[in-house]
Amino acid sequence: MVLRTISEVREAVRQARAAGQSIGFVPTMGAFHDGHLSLMRRAREENDIVVVSLFVNPTQFAPYEDLSTYPRDEENDARAAAAKGVEILFVPESSEIYPDGFATSIHVAGLTEVLDGASRGAHHFDSVATVVTKLFGIVRPDVAYFGQKDAQQVLVVRRVVRDLDLDVRIEVCPIVRETDGLAMSSRNVHLDPEARRQATALNRALDAAQAMHGGGERDSARILRAAQRVLDDAGIHPEYLELRDAETLDPVTSTRRDALLAVAAHIGTTRLIDNHLLKASS
Ligand code: PAJ
Repeated sequence: MVLRTISEVREAVRQARAAGQSIGFVPTMGAFHDGHLSLMRRAREENDIVVVSLFVNPTQFAPYEDLSTYPRDEENDARAAAAKGVEILFVPESSEIYPDGFATSIHVAGLTEVLDGASRGAHHFDSVATVVTKLFGIVRPDVAYFGQKDAQQVLVVRRVVRDLDLDVRIEVCPIVRETDGLAMSSRNVHLDPEARRQATALNRALDAAQAMHGGGERDSARILRAAQRVLDDAGIHPEYLELRDAETLDPVTSTRRDALLAVAAHIGTTRLIDNHLLKASS
């Protein structure tokens, strides 16, 4: 069932809750691929009712970013969500989410200023935190599902939930990849064949670093160099390639604690991100 207004969603969820049903929620910007569908599958397994939001949140795009060309295919998405057993697909207009006079913004200090926050501006994660909190307020889910693909987003959302005592459990699902290792992304459709080939170097670079870590190397600089070599060979100049503490995103000089190895790069005109978690125990 596609619903477009906040009041319709509230009413549907109220009825489900009154019947004692649990609510699982998957926020998205649509153009569904297997990454999105994996979140829906997990939500389906663990809840009575699954709500998915499809909203290309304009405020989280910088003026020079790809809001106007962001892939949109509501009809296909509605079919795919229904096939996954999603009861409610919430597809609001921008004016439904941001009515005249909307003035609130949620800022998570620290976490939002590095990696993608440094590249895209901290406003990006302020906008994500604000829209996700608003969606939580509308849907009031028991559990919300996010992908590890956007590792920094997960940390930001978790911090909002903790700091504001939002009554929702956050579950994180692994990165779903194409058979050649490229992390699935709605933006991959923009890659021409040459860029598509080049893009596989992102995961290969992270793999090379992970293999070094797996072999016992703990020095960040050496691990990063292994990844950098793969990017160099593929002719990719990353926006960032960094190792940071997996919880705080503080810079690290060793991988003796769990570390997030994260990369962002423009491949042709398409900006892609990927990451691997380097577990201290591995
Ligand atoms: P979107 O990019 O559509 O992603 C929706 C959810 O799908 C996010 O939790 C994201 O991490 C997850 N996802 C994307 N690609 C994935 C992959 N290859 N494997 C596993 N999960 C994947 O993230 C957003 O939308 C927005 O910022 C949003 C949270 C909806 C706020 O506007």
